[in-house]
Amino acid sequence: MSGGLLRRKTIIEQPPEHQLARTLSWPHLVALGVGAIVGTGILTLIGVGADRAGPSVLLSFVVAGAICACAALCYAEMATRIPASGSAYTYSYAVLGEVIAWVVGWSLILEYSLVVATVAVGWSGYATGFLAGLGVVLPDALTHGPAVAGNLVEGTVRITAMGVNLPAIFIIVVVAGLLSLGTQESARINTALVVLKIVTLALFVAVALPHFDAANLKPFAPFGYGSAPGGGGVKFGMMGAAAIIFFAFYGFDAISTAAEETKRPERDLAIGIVGSMVACTAIYLVVAAAAVGALSFTRFSNSPEPLALILREIGQGGVATIVAAAAAIALPTVILGFLYGQSRIFLVMARDGFLPESLARVSARGTPVRITMVTAVFVSMIAALTPLDVIASLANAGTLCAFVAVAACVLVVRRRGEAAKGFRTPAPWLVAPAAIAGCCYLFTSLQAVTQISFLAWNAAGLALYFGYGRRVSRAA
Ligand code: ALA
Repeated sequence: MSGGLLRRKTIIEQPPEHQLARTLSWPHLVALGVGAIVGTGILTLIGVGADRAGPSVLLSFVVAGAICACAALCYAEMATRIPASGSAYTYSYAVLGEVIAWVVGWSLILEYSLVVATVAVGWSGYATGFLAGLGVVLPDALTHGPAVAGNLVEGTVRITAMGVNLPAIFIIVVVAGLLSLGTQESARINTALVVLKIVTLALFVAVALPHFDAANLKPFAPFGYGSAPGGGGVKFGMMGAAAIIFFAFYGFDAISTAAEETKRPERDLAIGIVGSMVACTAIYLVVAAAAVGALSFTRFSNSPEPLALILREIGQGGVATIVAAAAAIALPTVILGFLYGQSRIFLVMARDGFLPESLARVSARGTPVRITMVTAVFVSMIAALTPLDVIASLANAGTLCAFVAVAACVLVVRRRGEAAKGFRTPAPWLVAPAAIAGCCYLFTSLQAVTQISFLAWNAAGLALYFGYGRRVSRAA
């Protein structure tokens, strides 16, 4: 037939040199999920969302959260059915066939690598500001990637200043070093930082909520409830903002990449995925309500640190400093969650023959050190050298593709009547189509430049598959 395009992979026991150590249980997984989810989205992009939707950004959170909740239920079922590393890539390979798995794997690279790069660059901004406060001023060319001007769609993009973002490389190398030490050690540090992050958000709510003024919610939806293009191709309106706010919610999917390091995957993965998603949705809704209610959105919507700015504007400068510092300390948990996920996806691709097999070796401590280092070098190059204007929304596009694939996997395994123990998506014929429809709608709400870049990336991926991947595939 089609040259094996739809060949599916059978999940097999790995040889000892490729086996990961099982050290994680559900509290680690919930912490890994919350650590990967709570980050730039709620700390920074809430301002961008408010800029595009006004106070109705609250509904953008509800819509994006509902779509992610449907996707999370599908992930929980697939992770329980196929408790192997590789997440959406592995599920697609086992259920939908090789060529779709390739496209999904290619999209996951966008999601994981670009999130690491985006957050590392965001962290670099905080760190250089902090160092400048101590009198250590780094040269501009060492704190930013190249600056660009022009329009990608019109083909007028040009580099206006060269630069390398050294702090971004630094934080990626530190997190990669931690991951190489061991998964359990990383999980412990992650848990401590997650607690710090949650306490910080609770502090923000406690201080901002008493300043809630219903007048700040009027007009509620100044740009409407849909998504309409405004200046520079940016989409305004409640749904336009939801397509960006979506960034804040994902990360729960990184938990599914920990399947082979989980002690009781059939139980713990579902608890980790659904638990972290529910906890973060609740936290986000309260933080967003406190933010939008405390200050008119027009005053914080363009800030790179909107929560700290709101606190300063309501006369809480001291708390603002604490929140900004805690955010900078805890932000690397997002890098940790996504760098971990990306290394496990590359690991599985190496096992499948798509990357050199030697990369799939694990160290004596049961950690895939080689692939972690290769991943760190790869994402460091993106973070150090790529202009970031477009790549956060490109990460969203990759994630939307993976979510659609996982929801489709649930429908296919249910249609085939494949029996399974453990977690099952409730009302699958409602929840999975809702996840697919919601993700497709959010994709149409992204900027045209993002949609075109996503399609170009996957076209390049498919060309590589037909020129190389199809031949070297182990399943062949
Ligand atoms: N959800 C993660 C964040 O907001 C990607 O940083």
